[in-house]
Formats: sequence, C-alpha cells, structure tokens
Amino acid sequence: MSKILLEIQGLRKQYGTLEVLKGVDCTMREGEVISIIGSSGSGKTTMLRCINMLEEFQGGHIRLAGEEIGYDHAGATRKRKSEKDIARQRAMTGMAFQQFNLFPHMTALQNVMLGLLKVKKMPRDEAHAIAEKWLDRVGLAGRGGHYPGQLSGGQQQRVAIARAIAMAPQLMLFDEVTSALDPELVGEVLQVIKGLAAADGMSMLLVTHEMRFAYDVSTRVIFMNQGVICEEGDPKEMFVNPKTERLAEFLKTSSFT
Ligand SMILES: Nc1ncnc2c1ncn2[C@@H]1O[C@H](COP(=O)(O)OP(=O)(O)O)[C@@H](O)[C@H]1O
Ligand SMILES: [Mg+2]
Repeated sequence: MSKILLEIQGLRKQYGTLEVLKGVDCTMREGEVISIIGSSGSGKTTMLRCINMLEEFQGGHIRLAGEEIGYDHAGATRKRKSEKDIARQRAMTGMAFQQFNLFPHMTALQNVMLGLLKVKKMPRDEAHAIAEKWLDRVGLAGRGGHYPGQLSGGQQQRVAIARAIAMAPQLMLFDEVTSALDPELVGEVLQVIKGLAAADGMSMLLVTHEMRFAYDVSTRVIFMNQGVICEEGDPKEMFVNPKTERLAEFLKTSSFT
C-alpha cells in the first residue's frame, strides 16, 4: 500500500456558536481519489478549507505528508504557525473552486504562469514550458493566448485546474468544480479530472454532486452529514448497499442512476 498522505483526526470547526465540523477523522493514501458527498451545509467545503488553512479550526489535527498543518501542538496547548510556514504548507495543496477566479486581464497562459513566477520564483522560460504542458494536458493546447472572456466556462475551469496543478501540489482539492457550468460543459471538465487521476496518479479530494463521476473515478467515497463522516467506503459497495438510512435517503434524492 502507498504511503499515508493526509491524516485528519478529530477535526472540529465552529463559526461563532455554530458547530460545523464535529470531529472528522479521515486517512488518505498517496494516489487515492476520494469523493466527498453530502447535502448542502454538511461541512464539505469547510473541511477542504481547513486542509488548505483558508479557515482556522478549533480542535483536532491535520497532517499532510507528515507535517502538522496550521498549528504547533505542545501537550494540550497549541499555537498557530507563522504566516510564512502557513503559506508554505498551503502550497502543498492546490485548490479549484466552483468559481474559476481567473484574472480577466491576463491570458490563459499568463494565468497559469503567474504562481510559478511570483510564488515559485521560476525563470520565465521554465514557467512558460510548464504552463504550456499543463494547458496541453487539460486539452487547451493552442488556447494559451486567449483571455478568459474568450473561453467557455468549461475551458476557463480547465485553465483554473491547470493553474493549480502547475504548482505541483501533493494533493489537489476540488470543490464542486462543475456546479457553475452549463450542463453541456460538465463532461469535459470531469474528463480532464479523470485523466489526471489515471495518467498522473494525482492524489485528489473532491467534493462533488456528480454521483456517476464519484462512482466511476473514486477509490473511496466519504458521505458527510451534519459535520461528521456518516459513512465511507468503496463507491461500488456504498452506492449499491448503503449501510446508513441517511445515505440511502441522500442517494434517493441525488441523481445517481
Ligand atoms: N463563513 C461562514 N460563517 C458562518 N457560517 C458559515 C460560514 N461558512 C459556512 N458556514 C456554515 O457552515 C455550515 C457548513 O457549510 P459548508 O462547509 O459550506 O457546507 P457544504 O460545503 O457541505 O455545503 C453551513 O451551515 C454554513 O451555513
Ligand atoms: Mg460547499
């Protein structure tokens, strides 16, 4: 079995008095593709944002590639890491969102190159070569000179995915990357993600409402309900024989056919 990449233990997160994550435990190995499913408000986005340190959390541990994320623990107390360390740890993950957030005044190529130049301080020609390689890998060879406004939603999302992956993260986080797309553009984005999982062996944690995709692509599925992992397992098993009433209910209302 491959090495453990991500280990989450007892993760707790509150917004004010609202408990959103109530003790999440999860272990992920290198090369795994895990889909997180669950109804709106169950804490899926919050979990991804904690891994990426876009949110602070109040309790528990997140370890990524052997590193304790976000806080240094000493006995029962803990201290937030320095901003420099947090920025470095944040770069261990790449994230793609529902909204693509490309810079509209920059071409696709410039969007992908930006982080390589500014964050990785890469020489221009090297950054250019890497950006072209990833645009090619997401099916956008020859579109590098286009501005976001000249691309379809599906193409823009593929640029956003190329931009995240070009930074060579150890783990990719996808949060409902097809939810803002017109139905006819969903397939091309899912196809790209599928290709990255298969050909590049990239480790991925993805929140999705695309049940067929979760079924076909995931090595494992996590079903979240009200801030905890309610059920997890092999998609082939879980979708056919849900163990909990809640998952059975959820699958009934979702579009898995
Ligand atoms: N910034 C925030 N401030 C307060 N409450 C929030 C914030 N973000 C999310 N929540 C609440 O946390 C809960 C979980 O949200 P979220 O993680 O976005 O769920 P999901 O992605 O599963 O739909 C919801 O009740 C939501 O209203
Ligand atoms: Mg969400």
